[in-house]
Amino acid sequence: CGIVGYIGTQAATEILLSGLEKLEYRGYDSAGIATIWEGEVNCIKAKGKLHNLRSKLEQLENPSSIGIGHTRWATHGKPEEHNAHPHLDMTGRVAVIQNGIVENYRELREELKQKGYEFRSETDTEVIPHLIAEYLKNPPFPPLPSSPSPFLEAVRQAVNHLNGAFALAIISADYPDELIAVRQQAPLVIGFGQGEFFCASDTPAIVAYTRAVLPLDNGEIARLTPLGVEIYNFAGDRLKKQPRMLNLSPTMVEKQGFKHFMLKEIYEQPGVVRANLEAYFHNSSDNNQSPVNLGLSESIYADLEQIHIVACGTSWHAALVGKYLLEQLAEIPAQVHYASEYRYAPSPLTPNTLIIGVTQSGETADTLAALAMEKERRQGQEAKYQARLLGITNRPESSLGHMVTNIISTLAGIEIGVAATKTFIAQLMAFYALALDLAARRQTIPKETIEQIINGLRRIPQEIEETLASQERLTEHLAHEFADTQDFIFLGRGINFPIALEGALKLKEISYIHAEGYPAGEMKHGPIALLDAKVPVVAIAVPGSVYEKVISNAQEAKARDSRLIGVTPVKDGEAAEIFNDLLPVSSVDELLSPILTVVPLQLLAYHIAARRGLDVDQPRNLAKSVTVE
Ligand code: G6P
Repeated sequence: CGIVGYIGTQAATEILLSGLEKLEYRGYDSAGIATIWEGEVNCIKAKGKLHNLRSKLEQLENPSSIGIGHTRWATHGKPEEHNAHPHLDMTGRVAVIQNGIVENYRELREELKQKGYEFRSETDTEVIPHLIAEYLKNPPFPPLPSSPSPFLEAVRQAVNHLNGAFALAIISADYPDELIAVRQQAPLVIGFGQGEFFCASDTPAIVAYTRAVLPLDNGEIARLTPLGVEIYNFAGDRLKKQPRMLNLSPTMVEKQGFKHFMLKEIYEQPGVVRANLEAYFHNSSDNNQSPVNLGLSESIYADLEQIHIVACGTSWHAALVGKYLLEQLAEIPAQVHYASEYRYAPSPLTPNTLIIGVTQSGETADTLAALAMEKERRQGQEAKYQARLLGITNRPESSLGHMVTNIISTLAGIEIGVAATKTFIAQLMAFYALALDLAARRQTIPKETIEQIINGLRRIPQEIEETLASQERLTEHLAHEFADTQDFIFLGRGINFPIALEGALKLKEISYIHAEGYPAGEMKHGPIALLDAKVPVVAIAVPGSVYEKVISNAQEAKARDSRLIGVTPVKDGEAAEIFNDLLPVSSVDELLSPILTVVPLQLLAYHIAARRGLDVDQPRNLAKSVTVE
């Protein structure tokens, strides 16, 4: 979910709506805003995308200069208007929006019901306005004498009763000059303008108004008034904190002539690879030095014996490529885990182990929880068991950045399309850099080979450009033929197996076509039963260690009447003969090929979804960063 709040001198409604538009990637099944006008809370909500809310608000004249807004990704309760935020207390004087989950909401709900509070939604959030209303009347503890406001004090006492991970923004008709924002393990930043102040789940929501921001830490409460911002901890102590300047410009969150953000972001990929090459790779003539400089502390590398990687979704696919590179280049045993699984069934504690969390947003709750668990269980252990954590993220200022000191920043620039594209390629670059760094330090492959690989990487931006230029028409044409297809199979082997998974995921996410990615050799052990003339098979076939095997597996599919689409640099010979359609990529070393082979698959998913008239940037049921477990 995305939350935004405003207090100042301008009309709040438009500022909130424009902020929510920039946060829609966080969820978009319903939306709502609450303002204070003529002594009352004015709360308007609408089911569905934000434009529904916008049309409702257009009919209303509301010059209120304080308000909160929310765009929802449903957790508790269906995406209906009554479950949309803001939620109000019974008198309609307190309005709350939440991103996250209140875990003890059932108990609180029962307690409040017994006190006579009536609930109108199925959400966990609704307990919060009731609890605040109750504590405004009957605080369970005497209010702190130092507290500047009874409203702040009631919120503080209420949040001390909430368990879970959440970010809140709260207003009250009885305190029309105060907006209270709370962070407890869900992201929230405060924005400082001239006589106006903001809060938001993420910076794009406020960058058009101010670049001076202060990310709240867990367990902090901000009180925003037209005069300024005060920060407190949950115990009520005032904290001293300074905002910092963002280096994000409002144009970075515009489509710049592309029909969709996703397409723009696919086209930004050569630049992303260049940025990572420039930042992390250098021409080292010194024999003892690694040609990679990630700026990580030496403790990450010392006596390293094994690596565990935790991630979700597309980041998990990047981690699988990472495992291949770490094992094959640096000879370090590496395992990849779904973060949501690892947390409850971690591998036995091993010494000298590096734990890598990969998350584009740096906010995915499952990944953060898995890392927190690892940190905790290693605390107090002898030195070799101490937690060594490394984060790979596109948002170093995120919650992950707060949690982990060693970070590889993936330098993709902000990504708006919900389906990850350029951030995936950037994560791959981080793994190439890390694996080569480790290989150089451990001397597992000759220096010359490392130089060759890096030279290959330097050619990649141009090769992606060539691939994009040759693909655009081809994939658009193919998409036309597959717009009504119901199932797709993607095959790859070795380093391109994760790309088969990623190709299938892209198609599922944005086209809603059922798609499966398989290691090509596994197809004959089951999935082959699915094949017939209606199920096209996309095979990634790059000359190298598994090329012939992939071609044989593709033949097996063809023999079952499947239409075969080859993602391959081979333009003639056997490959050209067996594939019904070719999605050519530039000639490239197998080891580097994932950065190229994923590009036509991204375009294929994009064009099929566009052809089907779907909402490419905001596919149904998804959210870009899922901040609940
Ligand atoms: C969500 C998105 C996926 C994404 C995953 C992990 O589920 O819909 O596209 O891959 O989160 O996100 P992260 O920010 O942790 O990489």
